Amino acid sequence: MILGIETSCDETAVGIVYYPRLKLAANVLRSQIPLHAPFFGVVPELASRAHLEYMPEVLESALRKISGPRRIEAVAYTQGPGLKGALLVGETTARALALAWGKPVIGVHHLEAHLATILFENPKVTPPFLGLVISGGHTDLIHVKRWGSYHVLGRTLDDACGEAFDKFSKMLRLGYPGGPIVDHLALQGDPQKIAFPRPYLEGTWNFSFSGLKTSALYWVRDHGRPKGRRALCDLAASYQEAIAETLLFKTKKALASLRLSTVVVSGGVAANTRIRSLFQQTGRQEGWQAVFPSPSLCTDNGAMIAAAAALRLESGARPTASPVDPSLSFPAW
Ligand code: KG4
Ligand code: ZN
Repeated sequence: MILGIETSCDETAVGIVYYPRLKLAANVLRSQIPLHAPFFGVVPELASRAHLEYMPEVLESALRKISGPRRIEAVAYTQGPGLKGALLVGETTARALALAWGKPVIGVHHLEAHLATILFENPKVTPPFLGLVISGGHTDLIHVKRWGSYHVLGRTLDDACGEAFDKFSKMLRLGYPGGPIVDHLALQGDPQKIAFPRPYLEGTWNFSFSGLKTSALYWVRDHGRPKGRRALCDLAASYQEAIAETLLFKTKKALASLRLSTVVVSGGVAANTRIRSLFQQTGRQEGWQAVFPSPSLCTDNGAMIAAAAALRLESGARPTASPVDPSLSFPAW
């Protein structure tokens, strides 16, 4: 088994997986949402301190599920990208455990781990495929040539699409994190009610969501905060649709350009109901497939870190454990 520790942002998480055939043994996390909610976003220093406080109980709870650490063969942690102080708590914990247990320690890339999550439920998905990682900190379109060989086609130039959800929610004082709240409201709204712009940025693989966010801000300034629930749901659905269609537009172009027929969509925003249905329905109509992990595996968790480490061990690559790096670029191994 491999134990994976994730502390890059606001979830203190420990997962344990069987390998080489990936199977979940434990996936325990303690969310820091109540701590950051009053600020409508993650406060880095509060996150670091909370990771330190929550880690022992999360770790113990995960280890209890496998009756102790005897069968753990390696310890993995998120090396980056992420918040530096938060990452350091995970790295230090991983190194301490590995030293105590006499096992190797492996640093993994957070986005590679989001993609590797797909293997728990869809072991038949094999590269080459297109990866779309959409989360609170990232919107990356990646050509996965094989596990360990990645080419980042494009990423966001400003806000990540999760941030676009979170800041929209903050603007309307709906709560934090905004993604699940907007998703829920949008279920009862009309996505065609308000014509928000689609930031397609033709001719580049990059994304930009800050203009869309500003257009929502201007809409609220001009029309006021929606009074009734119906109007609020319409606003949420229209805004969400602009994000979903933008992601789909770029994905379709990249699939065609690279002659690929599978896109793996992961990261917290991949839990979004509308994005999942739009991608899956369009894929069925057009002859490509969109594969998503279950919503609970889309958001940050420890099992995904262990999954990425398992891929690396299986490939025969030597375990490496470099210091954490908040802006770590995609690994090659
Ligand atoms: O992957 P994740 O847990 O953490 C990062 O690595 O950033 O993603 C968190 C992000 C937040 O922005 C949150 O609002 C968004 O994922 N999110 C969603 C949904 N669930 C979480 N966005 C849209 N719809 C959802 N259902
Ligand atoms: Zn993430």
